[in-house]
Amino acid sequence: MDPNRNTAYDAPTSASFAELDSRLGWTLGYPFALRALGIGSPNPPKTLLDYGCGPGRAANRIARGYDIRIIAVDPSAEMLAIASQRYRHPLITYRQTQDNRLDFLPDGSMDAAMSCFVFIVLPSREQLRAIAAEVWRVLRPGGRFAILDPHPDSVGIRFSTGLLRGKPGVAYRDGDPLVARLLLTNGEWLELSDYFWSARTYQEVLAEVGFTDLRVESPVLADAYGLADPADLSAYDYDVERTHAPMILIHGCRPGT
Ligand SMILES: C[S@@+](CC[C@H](N)C(=O)[O-])C[C@H]1O[C@@H](n2cnc3c(N)ncnc32)[C@H](O)[C@@H]1O
Repeated sequence: MDPNRNTAYDAPTSASFAELDSRLGWTLGYPFALRALGIGSPNPPKTLLDYGCGPGRAANRIARGYDIRIIAVDPSAEMLAIASQRYRHPLITYRQTQDNRLDFLPDGSMDAAMSCFVFIVLPSREQLRAIAAEVWRVLRPGGRFAILDPHPDSVGIRFSTGLLRGKPGVAYRDGDPLVARLLLTNGEWLELSDYFWSARTYQEVLAEVGFTDLRVESPVLADAYGLADPADLSAYDYDVERTHAPMILIHGCRPGT
């Protein structure tokens, strides 16, 4: 499959996605990615690449909380229009990617990178690899890359927010399409098509392009205390999240100093 196949969100999907209720993400997802990248630590990165930033909500929340310059990129002009209107911040620069490339960023120019809920949108392993390689190029030696996605072991599980991805009882394999149902802030539901990738595939792809010190995290509710914002933690009567991780975090380092 063409590794440059266009997977950018279109205008209606972008508009709906911008209204997503992201409190589960801010309970069991993003805070773990920030911790993995050292954001909030005594020696934090000064620059962050947000690869596939969507409407820019995560970048904006990070910029409001930390002194970190963020390059937030997405191939979708519609997403970037929403981001520039609603989630503008002096620390954030929004840029459009083309063919999975970051030509506007020199080699080794970023301290850290994250890609949240983007790899599941990609239909081929070649594309996962092309993006991981481009992120590796722009990271400085010693910089970390964190990928956050829905957990492949949690397909078919209905979480407390109503989030459901894939069908219960179906054994999905790499590259299989599935449908995710996500809650919007107005109480309506958004159905999105994405793809199944196993935890092993994420790790293999990162290793193939040169990342080392690979780690995988599957956060459950007990892990979020002391890390997630109490307002996000108390937003739902979380229960299934005590034993099942809705999200997976895979992170690794570009070796060198
Ligand atoms: C599910 S949204 C996630 C947005 C954001 N990261 C977040 O956490 O809210 C997926 C985003 O990935 C973008 N995307 C699709 N294909 C991409 C690609 N090849 N490279 C980078 N981003 C891509 C879409 O346009 C969309 O904005």
